[in-house]
Amino acid sequence: MKIETLAITSTTLHDEKRAVIPPIYLSTTFERKEDGTFDKDDYIYNRLDNPNRRMLEKSLTVLEKGYQAFTFASGLAAVNAVFQTLRTGDHVILPDDAYYAVILLAEELFKDFGITSTRVNQAQIENVANAITPQTRLIWLETPSNPQLRMADISVIAKLAKQANALCVVDNTWATPIWQNPLRLGADIVMHSTTKYFGGHSDLLGGALVINKNEILAEKLRKIQKVGGAVPSPFDCWLAARGIRTMPLRVKAQTASATKLAKFLATHSAIELVHYPFLPSHAQYEIAKKQMKGAGAMLSIEVNGGREAAMKIANKLKLFAHATSLGGVESLIEHRKSIEGAVSQTPDSLLRISVGLEHPADLIADFKQALKYV
Ligand SMILES: Cc1ncc(COP(=O)(O)O)c(C=O)c1O
Repeated sequence: MKIETLAITSTTLHDEKRAVIPPIYLSTTFERKEDGTFDKDDYIYNRLDNPNRRMLEKSLTVLEKGYQAFTFASGLAAVNAVFQTLRTGDHVILPDDAYYAVILLAEELFKDFGITSTRVNQAQIENVANAITPQTRLIWLETPSNPQLRMADISVIAKLAKQANALCVVDNTWATPIWQNPLRLGADIVMHSTTKYFGGHSDLLGGALVINKNEILAEKLRKIQKVGGAVPSPFDCWLAARGIRTMPLRVKAQTASATKLAKFLATHSAIELVHYPFLPSHAQYEIAKKQMKGAGAMLSIEVNGGREAAMKIANKLKLFAHATSLGGVESLIEHRKSIEGAVSQTPDSLLRISVGLEHPADLIADFKQALKYV
């Protein structure tokens, strides 16, 4: 079946009332059988499992073509769960351009537990290969990366990870399963901030891990999820599942608009550089074409005139809110350096754009008027 169909069939929950739209199960606790026991698939307590969470995890597994999914209270809680599988003395390889809080998690939180990390530009395979040590147990990829949209070759790096006995994890938040299925390219774990395209309406927080078949890893993650307790609420699971139903159409429409906007911006004299994977000028265009079916709806631009010009453009745009986050139906723009803090390697002239569902002609017209001010 095609992904549009799977998005609907995997988010259907048949309850005893035969409701077509799944209900939300808010109950934190569930009754035992008369003899005081539970059957294997029974619900017991909300932190352990819940009908809305189970449905969402089933859907994520189907969409990412995986073995099992684990959902969390936020994307970062899902990243944290992966790091919790490590031991003191382990080493992690991270992208030098990545969601900044993933870097903070490694360099400021897990460092205190004796886990070391190295940041490299993963666009060049040799940088990854050279960073591997006998202690490397995790290679973290974010491709396209946030915010510079660098590409890493998933299948080649997954092979390197396997040889090193390390996990290969891909943050697939920007590409979404509509355009990229890292598990099919050899990754061990796919991570998502479901806050973004899965929810799609900027009104929930959630995270997920989907894994290839590996019972030892599944058991570890199950324990971290259920005993660690950073689980999503039933309502957030319900919202994410509802978002999934329209995600393929939303992502496809947003990607088509992003492509038009990227092409327009690439020709404008006020713009120095456009980072968008399917522009032939992109430094890793070949990798993008090899592993992605579409380029996604995120892009970033480096503007002439540095920070001052970037801020002016962000403030003169009328259809793009100057706000953080991404993946919603409304277009957003953000000066990333000013939120990323000390770990940032982002140019001061960079603006990150999340393209929403407004008409692309209106979005381009808005940029035309805003760019007149610089
Ligand atoms: C690529 C990427 N990964 C992870 C996260 C973190 O997700 P959350 O905000 O749901 O914790 C974000 C958030 O912006 C992100 O863009």
